[in-house]
Amino acid sequence: MTEGSSSEPILRIRELRRQITYHEKKYYVDNDPQISDFEFDRLVKELERLEARFPELVTADSPTQRVGEQALDGFLAVEHDTPMLSLDNCFSAEDLREFEKRIKKILPEETIAYVAELKIDGLGISVIYRNGLYTQAVTRGDGVRGDDVTANVKTIRSLPLSVPAGEKLDIRGEVYLPLSRFREVNGKRLEEGEALFANPRNAAAGTIRLLDPGIVASRKLDAFFYTLLAEEKGESSQWDLLQALRELGFKTNPASRLCPTLADVIVFYEEWNERRDSLDYDVDGIVIKVDSAKQRKILGRTAKFPRWAISFKFPARQATTRLNEIRIQVGRTGALTPVALLEPVRLSGITVSRATLHNEDEIRRKDIRIGDFVLIERSGDVIPKIVAPLKERRTGSERLFSFPRECPVCRSNIFRPEGEAVSRCTNPSCPAKLKESILHFTSRRAMDIEGLGEALVDQLLSSGFVRSIPDIYRLRQEDLSQLDRMGEKSAENLLLQIESSKQRDFTRFLFALGIRFIGERTAKALGEHFENLEALRGAAEDELLKIADVGPKVTESILFFMRQEENLALLEQFKQAGVNARTFHRSSDRPLRFSGQTVVVTGKLQHRTRDEIKSLIEEMGGTVTSSVSRKTDFVLAGEDPGSKQAKAKELGVPVLNEKQFEDILEKT
Ligand code: IVH
Repeated sequence: MTEGSSSEPILRIRELRRQITYHEKKYYVDNDPQISDFEFDRLVKELERLEARFPELVTADSPTQRVGEQALDGFLAVEHDTPMLSLDNCFSAEDLREFEKRIKKILPEETIAYVAELKIDGLGISVIYRNGLYTQAVTRGDGVRGDDVTANVKTIRSLPLSVPAGEKLDIRGEVYLPLSRFREVNGKRLEEGEALFANPRNAAAGTIRLLDPGIVASRKLDAFFYTLLAEEKGESSQWDLLQALRELGFKTNPASRLCPTLADVIVFYEEWNERRDSLDYDVDGIVIKVDSAKQRKILGRTAKFPRWAISFKFPARQATTRLNEIRIQVGRTGALTPVALLEPVRLSGITVSRATLHNEDEIRRKDIRIGDFVLIERSGDVIPKIVAPLKERRTGSERLFSFPRECPVCRSNIFRPEGEAVSRCTNPSCPAKLKESILHFTSRRAMDIEGLGEALVDQLLSSGFVRSIPDIYRLRQEDLSQLDRMGEKSAENLLLQIESSKQRDFTRFLFALGIRFIGERTAKALGEHFENLEALRGAAEDELLKIADVGPKVTESILFFMRQEENLALLEQFKQAGVNARTFHRSSDRPLRFSGQTVVVTGKLQHRTRDEIKSLIEEMGGTVTSSVSRKTDFVLAGEDPGSKQAKAKELGVPVLNEKQFEDILEKT
């Protein structure tokens, strides 16, 4: 049924909500999607359209209502009806046997079965449902009172907004940021020059306290639940509780295991200590809970902890090694970052030979010296960091590190502004900056010039063929053929790639320029507002400040950039070279349906030529590339698609036929 064919919009709205909720659960909770993203988006779009036409029919638990539009003022402190206890810790099997002994003292005649769960390294949360509706979410806080984070937790797509359950339900669990998301978030922060989150836990904590639920939604938090407080469930065993939670639609951790004896618990611990790196979230140990509700009740609690549960921590991800050297790296913005070169050492499954030292002050504050034995730590999956030097192992031969007074690459002056931790090279044409700027300019999310990797950029710089970014557009076949390992075919391909990058939209170009504080998100906001560079260049301060996502920092940075003679010369060269960066949807009015997506087109198409399809997808915000990889969002396959389709199937990349693609265009 399509919109309009129903005489009763409310019935259609209900049906759409039912379907969307069902598919959200299948996708986010059960990990078992039943329809394609396109079909799913179509349902959501239809619901959004209907709700826009009949605003009086919008309900709080509609799947369109996960992200509130209002910024929050702050977080209200809320008292928990039942306090949120924390857990006693133990670190060895022996400690664990002590824990069982204490239990047996109170329950001498009984056999004790346990449930072993992973201890998720996130944030404790209590979520309240009243009359089946999501009502409130509160952080653990100090256990007695926490912060009301209802709007932010609502953005968690695996969390049901309504449940088939009684008057009041208080479920408890752990909110976390998946490691894959953590890496993306930090990657983006690095690009945008923002401080990195030290680990996924900090990132989750920082996210849950953001005042803009829109940003919270974009971070994509997730949650596992393990406790259910409800009148009628009070008597259940922990194992049955987990089952009940699942039946209500909550995401529980699949690793949980019923363990008839303590020996089974220890097996569980050892298995997961080995395998914890295979998970997409951090775990710092396991939690052992007495299964029987009756036994739990008798055991009760001490002042701080329940007597029926304990956490058994995994060994820390730390190791000791020698710091051989400190090297300075010069980044795109000219920032000088010290990096520790370490004697290679195994650390939770990988070999580590480098660690970041952040900046000059950090080295001094921690008193780190060259030749020191240092304690290193991996938190999450980030680059390891140095926790501390082992001063007791010093022999006297260690050397203090003196931070350079000039750029190690071009010998120019460096400058460290008052109050900042970072020194920067002052030479605008420092080769290190240029190299990093080119790599950024050509990267996938910027101008997306495939094949211009680090080794090639090094060659282009040292051969003198490239002295500034626009020089890329002056490269000729005969230049390239002089380089090492550059065949005729690859040179041709590269030139084609460079040529087609001239048609990238304004947003990508703006991001590619690497202007300070202009990350992808800001570039997008600016791209939607300005047609092209000329328009942006003519913008006055107050016009910029009016744009959502553009604050004084960004505004100042743009105005500064546009005042520099050498930047204007650079922009002129791009123009001369034919870089045509403009905002597409303004001139063609096409919605950005494929925004940020990477598409591969293959096989013979009936309705349009390859070029037509390509420019259509690009006009709608997408990028067309030639080879299928994990990063491909979908493959459009005509007749006789051949190996690209096979590759897509192998990688699990969706394949659309021409009809399906035309359907999307029509619907958009
Ligand atoms: S049960 C009274 N189970 O660890 C029992 N907690 O150090 C309360 N945590 O505050 C908690 N995974 O935030 C439990 N499977 C799990 C857990 C878990 C993580 C957190 C929770 C708690 C903290 C205690």
